[in-house]
Amino acid sequence: MAKKLFIKTYGCQMNVYDSERMAEALGGEGYETTATPEDADMILLNTCHIREKAAEKVYSELGRFRGLKAEKPDLKIGVAGCVAQAEGEEIIRRQPLVDLVVGPQSYHRLPELERKARAGARALDTDFPEEDKFTRLARRPKAPRGPTAFLTVQEGCDKFCSFCVVPYTRGSEVSRPAEQILNEARDLVERGVREITLLGQNVNAYHGHEGGLAGLIWALAEIGDLKRIRFTTSHPNDMDDALIEAHGACEKLMPYLHLPVQAGSDRILKAMNRKHTAESYIRLIGRLRAARPDLLLSGDFIVGFPGETEADFAETLALVEEVGFGQSYSFKYSPRPGTPAAERDQVGEAEKDERLQRLQVLLTRQQRDAQEAMVGREVSVLFEKPGRLPGQMGGKSEYLHAVHVHAPEAAKGDIRKVRVTEAAANSLGGVLV
Ligand code: SAH
Ligand code: SF4
Ligand code: F3S
Repeated sequence: MAKKLFIKTYGCQMNVYDSERMAEALGGEGYETTATPEDADMILLNTCHIREKAAEKVYSELGRFRGLKAEKPDLKIGVAGCVAQAEGEEIIRRQPLVDLVVGPQSYHRLPELERKARAGARALDTDFPEEDKFTRLARRPKAPRGPTAFLTVQEGCDKFCSFCVVPYTRGSEVSRPAEQILNEARDLVERGVREITLLGQNVNAYHGHEGGLAGLIWALAEIGDLKRIRFTTSHPNDMDDALIEAHGACEKLMPYLHLPVQAGSDRILKAMNRKHTAESYIRLIGRLRAARPDLLLSGDFIVGFPGETEADFAETLALVEEVGFGQSYSFKYSPRPGTPAAERDQVGEAEKDERLQRLQVLLTRQQRDAQEAMVGREVSVLFEKPGRLPGQMGGKSEYLHAVHVHAPEAAKGDIRKVRVTEAAANSLGGVLV
């Protein structure tokens, strides 16, 4: 009988992709995935270390499995992802019910680690090995799957923003060879995928293809049944001419761009080691919009970075007003162990709360305005799954809006023109054209 694997994923899309690959790797060891921890033979938490809250969640979740482990001594519990990388053995010390710890660059060794854990030993691997994990991982299955997929093309980060743990948990920048990516993409498309989101901690620093990420996008665009291409997350300084141009010229590249700016004050941007200014960011957005006027922009913001004054924060608000974001993610600065900014004088918690709230009022208004501006417009929707009402289908517009449409004849994977008739905070409703 197949053993059951329960995986819970935290953090970014790269973890979503990694979880899929880890499940496949353990598939070779006779594991099937289950949606409930209660019937699992192995529980794997794929974790995120980006903010303190994210990292602490792991320990409260682990504590909840104590009862299960007592009932079922054969149950193995593993921690993967960025907390595993950052804390390693410390995890087992703090929570002895953990049997296995594996970092994001060594999860191709999961099958051996699993056997080791089954044999009763503690299994730990947080190396940054020389070998390419993608060539060592189990072949991906051939079974049909849903119409959208993530595909990691680049890992790691060399930017060292002074607040960020990613360069430490994911290591230095590595690009996968283009041929490997194109083969994986072709296989995904054969399995029914119509939209691929290329992933990287710094995806536009990709250099595994001539012409960088733009070159890779153009090569992917030649796969006939692949209809849509997206990529995330980008750094403003790696947005080169070819990639800007692709936004205007490549029909399959969707008009949505997540381009974090973090703050609007040059003093703070410098302290963050972002290596760009507010003005250079705004100029870049101008060039992107000249190439693709309907581009929907998404951003990340940090408030309460060490040294941020009210005047600095006002510059973040001003930048947001000037750029206009259709989508955004905003966070209170969280000091992370081992990062330079954690050692500096901190902004008080109450101030952080207050600034976050003011920023979110503005960002929420922009997002709502952007949603409402869609009413009456035509979008193209890739259907992903049935909606809540009978005959309804749900999918995503080219701008990544969630859209619900009455379309009883439509199937998953179809792309149809839809006229938007209503806008809610997080989704649109429409009718087939
Ligand atoms: N590689 C991406 C995203 C990294 S993490 C990039 O360069 O933008 C995602 C977001 O989390 C960041 O953009 C940042 O806004 C936020 N973040 C990272 N470290 C943080 C910290 N210490 N405190 C609060 N937010 C943080
Ligand atoms: Fe972190 Fe900066 Fe690298 Fe993004 S670019 S992953 S924020 S260090
Ligand atoms: Fe979190 Fe690691 Fe992604 S810290 S955001 S899971 S790269």
